Amino acid sequence: MTQTDDYVLGRGIADSIRLASPVSVLGSTKYPNFNMAIALILVITRLDAQHLLWKLYRGHDLHPLIPMTDGMKIAELGTGTASWIFGLARQLPPTVELHGFDICDHQFPVKNLRPQNVSLRVLDSLVDPPASMCGQYDVVHLRMWASNLRENTISALVRHIKCLLKPGRYIQWEEADLVHQRVQGEGAASFEQNINDLFKKANLDYRWVSELPSFLETEKFKIIESDTGVFEHELVQLCTNTYLLALREILQGIKKILGQDLPLVIAEQELALYRLFLQNTRVVYNWSPVALLAQSQEVEV
Ligand SMILES: C[S@@+](CC[C@H](N)C(=O)[O-])C[C@H]1O[C@@H](n2cnc3c(N)ncnc32)[C@H](O)[C@@H]1O
Repeated sequence: MTQTDDYVLGRGIADSIRLASPVSVLGSTKYPNFNMAIALILVITRLDAQHLLWKLYRGHDLHPLIPMTDGMKIAELGTGTASWIFGLARQLPPTVELHGFDICDHQFPVKNLRPQNVSLRVLDSLVDPPASMCGQYDVVHLRMWASNLRENTISALVRHIKCLLKPGRYIQWEEADLVHQRVQGEGAASFEQNINDLFKKANLDYRWVSELPSFLETEKFKIIESDTGVFEHELVQLCTNTYLLALREILQGIKKILGQDLPLVIAEQELALYRLFLQNTRVVYNWSPVALLAQSQEVEV
C-alpha cells in the first residue's frame, strides 16, 4: 500500500515530483534560489551518507593502530561537512584538538554546533601551510580527494601533509578508486565507458589513487596498511546511490569546462545518468574503496 495510505514523507519518484510542486505553482522565477538550495542540501546530505558508507565499511573513524595520547592534535584536509571530525569529537577526550580545513567553508556546520575542541578553517591544502602549523599534528586525515587533484598536484598535497606532521606520525587516507569499478545493470557499462571518455577530455585522471601507496613510499612514508576492497551487502546500494549523485555534480563541473565545446555529449551523459537513477535498485555502480595508513619518517632530514 503506497498510493492510498496517509504517509506524509516520500517513498519514490512520484513523491519527489510532488515535492517540487510549490515552486511550479507559485512560479519558479519568483523563487530562483529554490533549486540551488535543494542542490546544496543534496551535496551536504550526500557527503554525510558517504560518511556512513565509510563508517560501516571500515568499522572505525580513527584507525585502531593509531595510539591515542592526551593532547594529541588531529587535522583533516578537505573536511567538507566535517562529519568525520564531529564523529571523532564524540569518541575522544576533550583534550584532543581536532582541526578541519577546507578550501571553502560553504559546507561547514554553523559555529554554535561545534564542540569546543573542534575548529574549522579555510585553507588550501595544495600550497605550503603557514610556518606556525608545521610539525604540529599527530594525525592528518584525508578522505575522498579523487576529484580534487589534477596532474602533478598530488606532490603539492603530500608536501603540505609532510609539513603538518610531527616526525613518525600518521596519515590516514580513505579514497575512491574510480578506475577499478564494479558496474552491473542495463546501460551501466556503456555509461561508464562514455563518462570515462569525458573525464579524459576534462583532464580528470583518477589513476593516481591506485598509485598512491607507491607514491607515498617514494616520499619516505612507511606504509602500515594499504587495502583495496569492494562493498558488499547493503553497502553496494549505498555506494551506488551516493556515487550517482556525485556523478551528477561531476557532470555539472565538466559542463563548466567543456560545456561550450561538447554540449550534446554532456547532455547525452546526463540523460544516461538519469536513466540509471530511474532503475537504481537494479543497477550496481560502485567505486573501489582504498584505505591507507602510513607513518612519516621518524627523524627529520
Ligand atoms: C568529496 S569532498 C570530501 C569531504 C570529506 N573529506 C568527506 O569525506 O566527507 C572533497 C572536499 O575537498 C575540498 N577541497 C577541494 N580542493 C581542496 C584544496 N585544494 N584544499 C582543501 N580542500 C579542498 C572540497 O571543498 C570538498 O569539501
